[in-house]
Order: sequence, then structure tokens, then C-alpha cells
Amino acid sequence: MKFIFASDLHANLPALEAFLAYLDKEGLAGLPLYFLGDYVNLGPFPEETVSLLRSIPAKVFLAGNHDRYVINEHALDHNPYFGSPEGVVHCRWTRSQLSPESLQWLKDLKVRHSFAEGPWKIDLVHGRHGSDEETLDEKGLEADRRIIYVCGHTHVPRVQAVRSCRIYNPGSLGKPLDRDNRASFGILEIDGDRESFTVVRIPYDIERAVRALADREVPWRLGIINSLRTAVYTDEE
Ligand SMILES: [Fe+2]
Repeated sequence: MKFIFASDLHANLPALEAFLAYLDKEGLAGLPLYFLGDYVNLGPFPEETVSLLRSIPAKVFLAGNHDRYVINEHALDHNPYFGSPEGVVHCRWTRSQLSPESLQWLKDLKVRHSFAEGPWKIDLVHGRHGSDEETLDEKGLEADRRIIYVCGHTHVPRVQAVRSCRIYNPGSLGKPLDRDNRASFGILEIDGDRESFTVVRIPYDIERAVRALADREVPWRLGIINSLRTAVYTDEE
């Protein structure tokens, strides 16, 4: 059985469209599909991205920290997660672009989901358990059980075995930060006791996203443009 995982889309419509076209072309479109959060912020197409996502029959959409910021009045006034006040200005811009229906969709997202496949439990979370701003680490995991933890948030793919359990991260669909600027997602394959996780990279039209950031005068866009092109984190203006 195969499962598709994607995370950290960040309002990048060209990346989402390329991902869906790839699933169609490769005959993967009917597989169970799980999104691990961060649909909005740091990209030019928040409403278009959420509208398209709302039409996709995915199994689960988890919430990410950026989704939480955009729906949270307090985070729109003060947010220590961002090193620059421009980050809060950017959050407010994202919120201003979203329809009431899309804002409600973001508010209704869950933070954790798990299911079973054969002898494996698959446990999904955006960052780590109890925090959507931190990274899942090996400490505190039930490493003697057959659990596959799938997380996002870091924007960097991860394939790790810790005794009986696994930690997988599909990387970022819309804003990779591992020096490879192609969209990233993961395919989990389970066959009885055996399982494997494959990270897939697909090119998409980065410059279309860049043009939209400029045309829409998105606050904080210079750092976002640099990150989209280089897949390296920067918050410089
Ligand atoms: Fe993210």
C-alpha cells in the first residue's frame, strides 16, 4: 500500500499545480493523500492555494504554525516566532487575502492524526507533539514500537530509523530549504513488515511565484524570493 505525504506549501500555487499534475501523470492521483500543514504565509497565492486544496479529496489536512498565526488575532499583533516585525505585517497581508470560507477551513484543521496499516501505526504531526514550532527529535518517541512518525515544518526531507520506529519528513512542497529548489513530497510504501519512504522532487515554475510576489507587492517578499530561488532560508529585506 502506498501513501502520499506533502507539507509546507506556503501559498505557492504553481508548486501545488505541478504536484497535482505529477500525481496524475504518474498514476498516483488515487492514492491516500495527507497534508501536514503550513498552507499559507510566505507565498503570493494564499486564497488560490486554499481554494484549490479545499477541492482535493485528501484524507487529512493537518494545521501548521503559519496556518495558526493567520487565524489568531494575537499572533497578528505580536509574534516572537518572526525575527522581524515585517513577518507580522506579512501575516496580516495573508489574512487580508483569504475569503471567510478559507479562513474557516484553516480554523477547522486538526493538529494530529494517526492510523494503522498492517503492523505499523502511522502518526502525523506538523512539528513535534505538543509544538508546531519545533522539530520532532528522537527523545520521547516510543522507539520500541512499530511507529512511523511523519512530520513537516523543517522544509528539509528526512529519512531516519530509530530502533523499531521511523521518522520521515517529505520536505516542503512550496518552499524547500535544503538547497534544492524543486518541490518536495514523499511516498510511503508499506508491505507487511516492510516499509520504505521515497522523497520525490519535481520542478515547477518558480518565476511565476516570484512575479506574483512582486505584482501583488507582498510584504517581506525579498527574503521569500531569495528562498524560493536558492532553497536557503533568509529573512533579509
Ligand atoms: Fe513551513
